[in-house]
Amino acid sequence: MKQKEILLFGASGQIGRNLIRKLTKNNYKITAVTRNIHRAGYILKTQANPGYLDLVELKSFESDKIDELMKNTSICINLIGILYEKKKGQFKLIHTDLPDMLSQKAKKHSIDKFVHLSALGIEVSKDSEYANSKLNGEKKIIRNFKNHIIIKPSIVYSVDDNFTTNFMSLLNILPIMPIYFNGNTKFTPIHVNDLVNVIYNLIEGQNKNLVIECVGPEVLTFKEIMQKLLNAIGKKRFLLPLPLPIAKLSAKILQLFPKPLLTEDQLNLLKYDNCKSGIYKTNYDLGFQATRKFEEEIDKYSFNWRSGGQFAKDNNLEKTK
Ligand SMILES: NC(=O)c1ccc[n+]([C@@H]2O[C@H](COP(=O)([O-])OP(=O)(O)OC[C@H]3O[C@@H](n4cnc5c(N)ncnc54)[C@H](OP(=O)(O)O)[C@@H]3O)[C@@H](O)[C@H]2O)c1
Repeated sequence: MKQKEILLFGASGQIGRNLIRKLTKNNYKITAVTRNIHRAGYILKTQANPGYLDLVELKSFESDKIDELMKNTSICINLIGILYEKKKGQFKLIHTDLPDMLSQKAKKHSIDKFVHLSALGIEVSKDSEYANSKLNGEKKIIRNFKNHIIIKPSIVYSVDDNFTTNFMSLLNILPIMPIYFNGNTKFTPIHVNDLVNVIYNLIEGQNKNLVIECVGPEVLTFKEIMQKLLNAIGKKRFLLPLPLPIAKLSAKILQLFPKPLLTEDQLNLLKYDNCKSGIYKTNYDLGFQATRKFEEEIDKYSFNWRSGGQFAKDNNLEKTK
């Protein structure tokens, strides 16, 4: 059977790596674009069988090079995204201008589908620059190219994420964990494998001209998520609700770190529930169930943060001495 060609931007991230495995196993040939082939190459090369993955280095979004790549593809997937700006204007560049350019090129080269990862809940969080830039990106794509599929996930988690793993590291070392907005903000976390299955099904099927929200099987508050993470790593910590002025001050300080733990923009986002909106169809409406439960999945990798590690409980060697 002839391989089908996919051009993938943002391949080295959590979703990209998992998506490469799913797609290449199913006879898709991927050309993955990365900014630094030496940094991303060693991890990407292990995600696919030989012959199914090519790596291309693009240091900036060079229009003619993207044209060249787009010419030979039938499906383009854009997973490039950032959580904070290192310089002013980066949200707009990455979340609005880049999808604008890619979807124009998708139209120019009459490709079959342009799949773009946006985010859930960005319609309401109007005081977040991240959310506004993502929403503007969606609008540009919809205007530019009708063969689009825009996927809007809630938090995506797995052993490869920057969410559960970072919080487990923090909960491990901090005696008191600050929580914002009383920890009441609701999320619908989706496991990366469930999300990747949805993306795969959307690529395989006839869907186009579609905006879809992707949610997991449970609605959990931020506080419930923290409690589940604490259970998983076997630690007890005090969850301290921070009054808003102090939360804002802490974000002002934390955003100065090279890899910020919290920015003012993220604090604004944390105000809003991250659940299906009712405006768009969800993965469930299209028959793509997300089945993985948060507690069961984090239990599979939380041993990295447990005292004694994975086998501490079952290690009977001490007893036999
Ligand atoms: N993970 C989540 O919980 C979540 C939730 C909602 C929406 N999303 C969206 O889903 C998409 C993929 O998420 P992810 O978690 O896989 O993302 P990720 O791990 O943060 O990685 C995205 C990729 O974007 C590229 N990238 C990062 N900064 C860049 C920059 N300044 N210029 C050019 N490329 C840059 C990187 O590729 P290279 O270093 O290889 O160039 C990186 O591997 C993003 O658009 C994200 O906003 C994610």
